[in-house]
Amino acid sequence: MTINDYENVVVTGASSGIGEAVARSLSEAGLTVHAIARRTERLDELAANTKCIVHTMDVCDSKAFIDLLETIEVDILINNAGVGRGFGNLVDANFEDIETTIDTNVKAAIYAAKAVLPGMVERRNGHLINIGSMAGLYPLASSLYGATKGATHVLSMDLRLELQGTGVRVTEICPGRVTTEFYDAALDDHAMVESKKNSGIKEVTSEDISQAVIYALDAPQHVNINRIELQPTEQTYGGMQFTPRSPK
Ligand SMILES: NC(=O)c1ccc[n+]([C@@H]2O[C@H](COP(=O)([O-])OP(=O)(O)OC[C@H]3O[C@@H](n4cnc5c(N)ncnc54)[C@H](OP(=O)(O)O)[C@@H]3O)[C@@H](O)[C@H]2O)c1
Repeated sequence: MTINDYENVVVTGASSGIGEAVARSLSEAGLTVHAIARRTERLDELAANTKCIVHTMDVCDSKAFIDLLETIEVDILINNAGVGRGFGNLVDANFEDIETTIDTNVKAAIYAAKAVLPGMVERRNGHLINIGSMAGLYPLASSLYGATKGATHVLSMDLRLELQGTGVRVTEICPGRVTTEFYDAALDDHAMVESKKNSGIKEVTSEDISQAVIYALDAPQHVNINRIELQPTEQTYGGMQFTPRSPK
């Protein structure tokens, strides 16, 4: 089993950043990619430049999302859609931010897995890739976001146990800082967005993450890549400290 033995892929959150890069690269690799997100104009652009089949969909609309997934024989699910609303202190997070972050990062990923796994198990063929975060593994002083990514981490590990003997593989990808629109969507304070976006270090790119996804998918069937952690060389665990080096 390598990437070429798979056919249909669902990528959630494919209108920007990591999801878009993964959708593009898997489409270029010859897979049939179903790209899901809410921003139709971004998806139309993706459809115009790739062979991706696009679906305008809010993954928090659980019923519609499950209905869509049930129309596709999904070989690979990339649970990538995610937000960082309420990214700062939990004390400052409002009700809506808490609901949105949990519903997007946790509930939608669980419903998606539940929708596609029975078919994968029956066909003894499938790969679930969950985009977690270093924030789910190490302290980051962002409790709400960290809790949702911690859930992704445990979901990924427990599914490995549940799926033992089925041939279905599960991989968790845990990025550190990646240059995307993540903070634009997460934070309302423009100055804070700019300060987050100007970390002063060379960050990981979405294409770096898509390479990691392809590495996991392309491993031989007897190899399950359980987890990949990748972060900028100049970012410490948890992401609070950056150490740009001055040129010698
Ligand atoms: N950037 C980082 O430093 C970093 C680090 C670790 C982990 N991650 C994780 O990587 C994943 C991708 O984030 P990113 O960095 O690529 O940020 P991004 O550019 O903001 O992408 C987020 C994607 O999720 C989609 N999305 C959000 N809510 C959705 C909803 N309700 N329904 C459907 N799609 C939805 C967005 O599309 P629409 O707005 O069009 O719906 C967008 O395509 C997330 O799970 C994030 O937690 C990011």
